[in-house]
Amino acid sequence: MQYTELHWRDGQPYSERYDDIYYASNDSELISGEKEFDHVFFKHNGLPERWRQGSDFVIAELGFGSGLNCLLTIRAWLQHLAESKVETNEDQRLHYIAIEKHPLSAESIVKLISRYPALKTICDELVDNYPPAIAGTHSRQLFAGRVIIHYRFMDAARALSDERLNVDAWYLDGFSPAKNAAMWSEELFIKLAQNSHQGTTCSSYTSAGFVRRNLQQAGFIVNKTAGYGKKREMLVASFEQRNIPLYRYADKPWYVTPPAAVCSEKKATIIGAGIAGLSAAHALIRRGWRVDIIDRQGDIARETSANPAAITYPRLSLNNDLDTEFYIAAFCYNLYELNRLQQKHERQFWFDCGLLQSMDDGRISAIIDKFDLNDAFIAVADDNDKDETLYPATRNAQQAYAVYKTAGVVLPAVLCDVLKIECGDRFNIIHADIDAISNENNRWQCLSADALIKDSDILIIANGTGVNDLGLALGFPVEAVRGQAVALTANADSKNMTKAVNSAHYLTPAINGRHYLGATYSRENKSTAISAGDNRELFESVDALFPGMFKREDCGDAWAGFRAMSKDRLPIVGAVPDGDFFHQEYADICHGKGYKKYRPAQHMAGLYISAAHGSRGFTSSFISAEIIAAHIAGEPAPVSKGVLDYINPSRFIVNDLKRR
Ligand SMILES: Cc1cc2nc3c(=O)[nH]c(=O)nc-3n(C[C@H](O)[C@H](O)[C@H](O)COP(=O)(O)OP(=O)(O)OC[C@H]3O[C@@H](n4cnc5c(N)ncnc54)[C@H](O)[C@@H]3O)c2cc1C
Ligand SMILES: C[S@@+](CC[C@H](N)C(=O)[O-])C[C@H]1O[C@@H](n2cnc3c(N)ncnc32)[C@H](O)[C@@H]1O
Repeated sequence: MQYTELHWRDGQPYSERYDDIYYASNDSELISGEKEFDHVFFKHNGLPERWRQGSDFVIAELGFGSGLNCLLTIRAWLQHLAESKVETNEDQRLHYIAIEKHPLSAESIVKLISRYPALKTICDELVDNYPPAIAGTHSRQLFAGRVIIHYRFMDAARALSDERLNVDAWYLDGFSPAKNAAMWSEELFIKLAQNSHQGTTCSSYTSAGFVRRNLQQAGFIVNKTAGYGKKREMLVASFEQRNIPLYRYADKPWYVTPPAAVCSEKKATIIGAGIAGLSAAHALIRRGWRVDIIDRQGDIARETSANPAAITYPRLSLNNDLDTEFYIAAFCYNLYELNRLQQKHERQFWFDCGLLQSMDDGRISAIIDKFDLNDAFIAVADDNDKDETLYPATRNAQQAYAVYKTAGVVLPAVLCDVLKIECGDRFNIIHADIDAISNENNRWQCLSADALIKDSDILIIANGTGVNDLGLALGFPVEAVRGQAVALTANADSKNMTKAVNSAHYLTPAINGRHYLGATYSRENKSTAISAGDNRELFESVDALFPGMFKREDCGDAWAGFRAMSKDRLPIVGAVPDGDFFHQEYADICHGKGYKKYRPAQHMAGLYISAAHGSRGFTSSFISAEIIAAHIAGEPAPVSKGVLDYINPSRFIVNDLKRR
């Protein structure tokens, strides 16, 4: 996608596509957008009074546009926190779900908001964290986590499909119903209802009869009230929950997200101090938790995350839209975290050098077209790229290189250390090899040789290849796949390489005088001893990419580790299902009974998992950590429901039950 162009008509921000204005203002009355907001959206959703109850609050806006409503809301929220003497993000967070099919660029937003000087500081924070023009979900933490904007750059109907966002207040601001009926349809309002709870409010400047009827049909109690400016009337509504829903087969009851965790204190335990465990600790600590992390090595990043250098880039599949959606979301979120962390820390762990990915020529273009991806994200490498970097050989005329400009290389040891520093004194590491976990009186106990090491309400399994060694009745189809990587001494020629290259193997540009070359795959070899055969394979592959550039003697330190790979090669992320409940409740789903109603999934209360990150843990861990933290806190997830289902830990049981 490209950012949409901003146009002006009679001094008002205007959309040519919809032939309508973003908000009412003109040169003589610059401030009216603000007054309209106060009247239509703020006051009529009962704000700020409802915030004084002291809990998190979820607002969803249909039509984020210039961000004016969002910025005004954030300003009021920060004022509310100051007045209520809430000093950290730990007690109250605002979640703002910003739905927008045609996002404006950060530059256009700055230009528009420059008309409201009082909003400059808030606008700066918003644009400093503004997402790239990539369709999908992008979560951003502003003001030290007091505000989280969940951008959903997609059509509103899609943004709300299958979700249970539990919205407290809706701002309906999708251009006039006469110009944009899709934003006011009954189908869309049914989705609003699915994402509402008893007492959710909603307001809109329109008073159109069909909008009122559609809202009523969807279960809202609707009233007309005095409108703003030239509008005589507007609509306000509140949702009436009719009954607790039971689910049909098509609703995928087995993937219903569990409610927020019930816990007596904000303390969690994590098993595994690799990138999956550390990023989960970081996500929770940022939300005011304390975390004990147990590792059999007694320190961080000692097993697979001891990998000397890791490339990060998105996996794009032409035939699997969910896979592509997941990896784009994971990659974009990863970049956001890596850039933020790197800005705060001097030691360099993130090299945003770009990456060339070997692919079939036609496939690159087909992927770009299908997912509407822009050049800043992926392009077919052209002569500029070939001039700028050492360009690898191609095997045949069909093979080309896709250039991912924002991809790059991470140094895991430094990144993991930085995460530990970020976690500060709320983080504690315990040296123990856990061989059993069990639930006693709603607390998870971690045991080693029958000794209790730690117990807590919340436990996160993030122990890589060891997920099935914890005595859980429920097994996960995960196997250990060995890999080897080797460092190559850089030379005068090789130093001209500016971008990482990924073909059958990957090669990084020189980092501190060394290139990193990886990685081999073996299911048979169970040893971490360095294999001369693997080094040979790696060298031959780099010699095919850059003939004669390296000599065998350039191969230096090698490293071997084990990737935790699931049966479907996807990470396993979310709440751990209650296997007994699944086997009883969903025993007959192989018959696909469309009419039957099921109870929603039940989980092992307080138990979560982030594992099986395979060959991509340095792309998939950060988003997985946010997903788990969002589940625990009952917040909107940072990815779509489709993606949550795709990596849901229950998928293996469900697939088995369906196949019976
Ligand atoms: C050769 C090679 C190259 C790779 N290259 C890349 C790459 O370029 N890009 C990329 O993104 N990824 C790459 N990967 C994959 C990446 O390294 C992994 O996905 C990632 O490190 C997994 O992190 P993790 O936290 O899930 O597991 P780990 O780092 O293995 O962490 C799990 C932790 O759990 C602990 N543990 C296990 N069982 C127990 C127990 N019972 N009790 C207590 N502690 C326990 C372990 O000590 C370990 O510290 C590569 C992997 C290999 C092997
Ligand atoms: C009136 S403007 C919103 C103004 C905005 N609230 C503000 O504060 O500036 C309407 C917005 O809805 C977006 N939009 C229109 N149709 C949409 C759809 N089907 N899905 C998502 N967004 C849509 C438009 O691109 C536009 O940005």
